Formats: sequence, structure tokens, C-alpha cells
Amino acid sequence: MGYFKVWGGGLPVSGEVCISGAKNAALPIIAAAVLCKRVCLENCPRLSDTATAAEILDTAGFCFDRCGGGVNIEKTDIGCACIPQEMCGKMRSSVLFIAPLLRRFGCVTLFMPGGCRLGARPVDMHLDLLREMGAKISICGDSITARADNLHGIKTRLPFPSVGATETAIMAAVCAEGESEIHNAAKEPEIDDLCAFLNKAGADIRRGEILVIRGRNSLLGDVRHRIMPDRIEAGTYMAAAAITGGELFLKNAVYEHISAFAEVLMQMGCAVRENGDSIYIEAPERLYNPEYIATAPYPLFPTDMQPQLTALAAVKCGDCLIKENIFETRCGHVPQLNKMGAKIELLSRREFLVHGTESRLSPAVTEAADLRCGAALILAALAADGCSVIKNGGYILRGYEDICKKMSLIGVKIKYCT
Ligand code: EPZ
Repeated sequence: MGYFKVWGGGLPVSGEVCISGAKNAALPIIAAAVLCKRVCLENCPRLSDTATAAEILDTAGFCFDRCGGGVNIEKTDIGCACIPQEMCGKMRSSVLFIAPLLRRFGCVTLFMPGGCRLGARPVDMHLDLLREMGAKISICGDSITARADNLHGIKTRLPFPSVGATETAIMAAVCAEGESEIHNAAKEPEIDDLCAFLNKAGADIRRGEILVIRGRNSLLGDVRHRIMPDRIEAGTYMAAAAITGGELFLKNAVYEHISAFAEVLMQMGCAVRENGDSIYIEAPERLYNPEYIATAPYPLFPTDMQPQLTALAAVKCGDCLIKENIFETRCGHVPQLNKMGAKIELLSRREFLVHGTESRLSPAVTEAADLRCGAALILAALAADGCSVIKNGGYILRGYEDICKKMSLIGVKIKYCT
């Protein structure tokens, strides 16, 4: 895996960033394409995770052709619904292929998903949903085999508003026999995008307090869809403006999707303005940390912005207690930030106290533990005078399209070396 070199201490970032399509919307939508006929996706980001999703589709006999700014997906070959462990191990989203491949082939074998190591991240909710809908699931070591001649609708309640489990429920229910009601479903905008995609293909999904899906017991039709903008990418660039005292204009960004983080930045002293499909942020040099931040399911503070906020708080005024409520161990960035001179006390794997000091960080050689840890380390490098190295840089390429080009355009000296 390659590494990033980032030269900090330069001018504050300034200029315009064009936000890409959302990784966490594109991945479930690519999986859901298995249920459709001809699919044309616009604004599908070029990431290592979408490349892995394309490999899985290829194994199952689907083409994934990029032409112009779009992607065409269609079943073109017999294919097989046995996805190699090496592919499944590359990302968490491989688990999202179980439901659509089961419906398409009647039987599917995959392996436990990989992805960012943020805790146990079991797939019990995904499998329990499929069992409730009539699938037979067998697990042997890391392999999972699901069998079902047909799936039937269910009325169920998720024990936790899991994003992935909600997406599995939707993809299993849209082509099942009968109606499904999913209570306590996740409310993230990426799920709305998946529902919009499937409804365009002929599904009947209604998002309200209860997620209601009228199954049609047949596959879906043709669909053209534009992937929503990536709210976490937008938040990460907003954090870059905040940490350097700069100003940015984010094109193709939806304020509502990242409002919880934007409100924290405004409480800290930034000016953030929504402007149709763009966001403008201007940050003074001095910002004041919030006393307490707790991550929670949408629309509250997103766990995927927690590492980036931790890096920002490390170099701004005041103490900030951060509580991670979604994942057991999303704290790989803490020791790495402390290596750069941050003063963060790890009170537990879910709770840390950031002692914000306005002094600059020191450049260092750090290691990205996962995707958003890597993003936090890039932000920290902007607040350090000199050249920092971030190893395991491949994690960052999983979720940030064209990051070197986009960062360079706003004044950052950054390089990815293999
Ligand atoms: C999605 O992961 C996102 N990934 C994550 O983004 C995001 O952090 C997470 O949702 C929460 O918003 C994609 O969409 C590809 P969950 P997912 O199921 O679906 C537990 C990033 O950086 N759980 O909502 O895996 C689980 O362990 C990534 O872009 C079970 O116990 O998240 C976790 O503690 C990181 N059993 C909690 O629920 C299950 O069957 C929330 O997980 C499923 C989940």
C-alpha cells in the first residue's frame, strides 16, 4: 500500500472543490443493480471500493462499463453467485451483495466482509432479516451461504438503526412476495438515494417513520440514476478550511446532509452558508472547541466525521470530550495524532478528551488505521509545519476521489507515492 506526503504550514486553503458522488450511496446502489435490467449511473465515484464492487459484479456475470461520465451495468453472462474471499475481504460493502445475489440466483456464497476495523462489525442483523424472509443461511468458518426459492415480506424491527442492515432489508424486500414493514430503520441520506434508485426501476418503497416496501415478486426494470453528493467528503474539506483558517466553496454539496457537522463548525466560530447545491465556509484563525460531541445515527453527528473533528479540535482552543457511540473502537487516529504533538487522553475505546492547544503540530510519519483515520491525519498534517508522511495511504483512496488533485487546487502541497 502507498503513502501520502503532505506539506503543512502553508497558506490557508482557499478556492473551490467539486464534491464527488457518495461512496456510501454508490456501493449499495451498485449491489442493487443486480436486481435490475439495464442500469446507467451518473456521478459514480472512481474509488478502489467501487472498483471492488465492479469485480464482484463481474464474477456474477454483470458488465460494469464506464463511458463518458457514466457507468453502464447489465447482466451479460451466466456468472456465478460465489464471490471469492479475497474480494469480500476488501470492503464492508461486500455484505450488501448477499440479498440481491440471493434473489437473482436463488443461492449465493460470500465470505465475511472486510473493511475498516472499527469494532466487531458483525453481520447478524443482515442474516437474521434474510432468515425472517425465508432464506436458509449456513455459515462455515468465514463463508456464508444463503438459499431461498423465494422471499416473502416481513414486519420487523431492527435492534439498532444499522445502515447496512436497512439496505439489505430493502434489497431483499423489493422483489419479495408481499409487503414489508421495517421499524427502526436507519435514516441516512444514502438510503434515501438507494430507495430513489430502486423506485425508478419499478420498486414501491415508502420512507416514513416506518419503511414500507411493497414486494413485486419479480426482478426490476431499466433505470438511470445520478448518485447523490458525498456528504463526508464535503465535511472533510470543510474541516480542511477550518483547520487552516481558510475559505472554500464546495460545489455539488447538500448542506442538509452534513448540517450536524456544519452546526458544530459554526459553534466553533466558522461562517458556513448554504447556497442551493453548494456550501460556502470561511474560518477565522482562532476557533473554540465544543465541550462535548457524541456520534449518533443520522441526522445527528456522523461517526464518519468523528476522526476529522478530533484532528481539528486538537489544534483549536479548549477541551473537547468526544464520545463514539456507533463503533466500539473508532479511535485508531488518537495515538497517531498524539505522535504529531496533539494532547488527547484516551479515556476508553469509545471516549477521548482532546486538550486543544493552539500550537502547531509537528510533522511526523504516521499510519492510517482506516479510511477516516487517514483523512484525519491529512488534516493534522495541514496544521503541522513541514512534511508529514501518512502510511497505508490506500485506505484514503477507498473514499476520496482525486484527493491529490482536489487538495492541490485549493493550495495544498500533497503527493501520493506507491
Ligand atoms: C455504514 O457502515 C457506512 N459504510 C459506514 O461508513 C458508516 O460509518 C456506518 O454505516 C454508520 O453510519 C457504508 O455505507 C459502506 P452500521 P455499516 O451497520 O453499514 C453494528 C466510512 O468511513 N452492526 O450502521 O457497516 C455495527 O457493528 C464507513 O465510509 C451489528 O451489530 O454500519 C456498528 O457498531 C465506515 N450487526 C453499528 O451496528 C449488524 O448486522 C452500526 O453499523 C450490522 C451492524
